[in-house]
Amino acid sequence: MKTLNATSLVTTLQCPHCHQLYNIEERQSYATCCNQPLFTNYDLELSKSYLLHVAEDSIWRYAKLLPVLDKHNIVSLGEGWTPISELSTLSQQNNVYLLLKDESVNPTGSFKARGISVAVSKAKELGITHCIIPTAGNAGGALSAYCAKAGIKATVIMPRHTPATLQEECRLYGAELILVDGLIDDCGKLARQLVAETGGFDMSTLKEPYRLEGKKTMGYEIAEQLNWKLPDVIIYPTGGGTGLIGMWKAFHEMQQLGWINGKLPRMVIVQSESCAPMVHLFQNTPNIPPSPTIAYGLAVPSPFAKDLMMEVLEQSNGTALSVSEQEMEDGIHEVATVEGLLLSPEGSATYIACKKLVEKGWIAEDETVLLFNTGSWYKYR
Ligand SMILES: Cc1ncc(COP(=O)(O)O)c(C=O)c1O
Repeated sequence: MKTLNATSLVTTLQCPHCHQLYNIEERQSYATCCNQPLFTNYDLELSKSYLLHVAEDSIWRYAKLLPVLDKHNIVSLGEGWTPISELSTLSQQNNVYLLLKDESVNPTGSFKARGISVAVSKAKELGITHCIIPTAGNAGGALSAYCAKAGIKATVIMPRHTPATLQEECRLYGAELILVDGLIDDCGKLARQLVAETGGFDMSTLKEPYRLEGKKTMGYEIAEQLNWKLPDVIIYPTGGGTGLIGMWKAFHEMQQLGWINGKLPRMVIVQSESCAPMVHLFQNTPNIPPSPTIAYGLAVPSPFAKDLMMEVLEQSNGTALSVSEQEMEDGIHEVATVEGLLLSPEGSATYIACKKLVEKGWIAEDETVLLFNTGSWYKYR
């Protein structure tokens, strides 16, 4: 690492439900307590007196607020510190100030690199030699790459219908790839079985504590890149919800650090109409069985952390909405032709959601809205 002399100010892990504390130096998972993801605590009082590692243009500029104790365990491919650009033409057309955080430039082409970098680093620190992950695609590619770098065995379990590029990259990084007829929930069942049989470590979304910590860096970056003034609205394409919950955690940590003050953004969940469990839960409408979607990353029929996501929506005065397959296709075309950016279907969903919320008046004229392009269009072939 370029300049990093960080020691983490991590203190404990904590159950968000019963608040029981757990040792950070031991291998922990959701099974430890209340069937909840464990949250990582830091000495935020002490962190106030430290400067950021501003010469480090990756997530590790926030190393003091990440859980890796020894910098030699950090497994990095240069993830994070991704650009935020203004969508000037679309801003004018929609009468709002539209910003896009482009996560497609991360190693392995998606924002999954952030969470996986931290989780694999911590796995290395804890002496874990085999990681197992159920994935809609992008997290599997990221795990394969970071495990290759760390010298850890990776087993990736993916739906058989996942695009070929997403499968092939896992094989190229040397991971064991298992294809399953079904969706990510079915992959999750097999992952749990393999974890029990092999003693491998379960890297499922929010079932280990540290992918959340990696994803929270999106919240830190948004604040820092926008001069510590957060946007009015953040629209997040949501599957398992790690990024949404992670950013919300980051905002609260920054409030305690005194790095930000004022109102926090209204957080918006967008999902595909083909698989929208969070939208149905938020709107209190009956869930419908999932059907295929081009937004593979959003195909999570029963997210483990749905209660935590609902809390984010409630606390932020946010909302949840879905978009159709055709709208995502149209959005890709619309953004590409006027902004010169190719979005993944998930990224396109955030733009369509924004248009719908502007039309409804939920987003007011001249508000600042941050969209996410969470993955690379080029991987969906
Ligand atoms: C491109 C893309 N966008 C969004 C998501 C959903 O992310 P999260 O699990 O944080 O909700 C995924 C997850 O696979 C993804 O690959």
